[in-house]
Amino acid sequence: MQRHIARTVAAVSGGERAQHMRAKRPEGMVRLDSGTPNFPTPPHIREAAKKALDEGLTHYAPGQGDPEFLQAVCETVERETGAVYSPDDVFATNGASSGIYTVFTAFLDPGDEVILMDPTFSLYAHVARQIGAVPVMVPHGADYHIDAAAVRAAVTPRTRLILVNNPNNPTGVVYRRAGLEALAALCEEKDLMLVSDEAYEKILQPGYGHFPLLAMREHKGRLILLHTLSKTYAMTGWRLGYVVAPPDLGNLLFGVHRSINGPICTFVQRAGAAALRGPQRCVEEFGAEYQKRGGLMHKLALQVPGLRPVDPQGGFYLYARYEYPLSSKEVHRRLWEGGVAARSGSEFGAAGESHLRFTYSVDEKTIAKGMAIVRQVFGQLG
Ligand SMILES: Cc1ncc(COP(=O)(O)O)c(C=O)c1O
Repeated sequence: MQRHIARTVAAVSGGERAQHMRAKRPEGMVRLDSGTPNFPTPPHIREAAKKALDEGLTHYAPGQGDPEFLQAVCETVERETGAVYSPDDVFATNGASSGIYTVFTAFLDPGDEVILMDPTFSLYAHVARQIGAVPVMVPHGADYHIDAAAVRAAVTPRTRLILVNNPNNPTGVVYRRAGLEALAALCEEKDLMLVSDEAYEKILQPGYGHFPLLAMREHKGRLILLHTLSKTYAMTGWRLGYVVAPPDLGNLLFGVHRSINGPICTFVQRAGAAALRGPQRCVEEFGAEYQKRGGLMHKLALQVPGLRPVDPQGGFYLYARYEYPLSSKEVHRRLWEGGVAARSGSEFGAAGESHLRFTYSVDEKTIAKGMAIVRQVFGQLG
């Protein structure tokens, strides 16, 4: 039966991201492809949700969010960046995902452009296309850092937003302060908004420090933070994130969010407040595990002939270039047939071609098993 599907939706539905999401994984496949931590959500966070349920917090939350959660976000932002925001400048989202949709919808008319670093988390380009906007992918510079000159060269009269994801998914690179400052200055000069998705800011390898977007207080009117509790607190299934916006834009953005999403689950927001305000030992413990796992995966990847992994810096992804004349989609397919799921670099942008992304948010046994298959499959590529 022929039915009309919106042109923009039809255009994205066959993309690599959509295909990967839909693919059925055979029984026993080793999963190095997912973006979810394998830790349970810490007990004090679960308890806060149970307490809220028992207190009857099972109805609509206030529109922008539960006051305790919004206040906890403001305290967190001030503690970590020195920037003072009011709960009116924040709203709760369904993970970072609905925040991304909201910000793009608010600033991009059809045909408008958002500049993204290439490669980057594939949802950004997908959402931009789905709303009829244009993702402009700007390749990273040396060592997968921001190439501010290339970004400047990519700005056109249709550019509205520059978005960075720091630390970057899929490269695992933690951007340097200078690159971010250059982008903020460019946004001032060209009248653009600078958006940062800092989902992995708390997951860092030894020796790496994260420079938060909102610390650039002199640019407050141009900065938007997208955040989520998914990765830091192992809460991917709870669906809780937040957006921090310039004071005069909080209401406008929240209005957009309200039209795609009702208020976020009340007791989940209480759990979120407990996560942000409670002891952060769990974050340190997860971090120590990711350091071990990242180190192990990197070591094993170095033993795979023709694979050149990037040193892990932040997040829980190992990004690796390979030296065979095959598309990353094809290598991904061969790995899949060999029994290990990874992500094809081209899913994250054209610059991701000849690269793969492996996840190390799984246990060490799974990492070892998966990388053994990678080694075996690569042995047959040459
Ligand atoms: C960079 C980045 N942002 C956002 C998300 C989505 O997060 P959430 O589950 O909070 O919607 C992910 C998930 O993998 C991600 O990698």
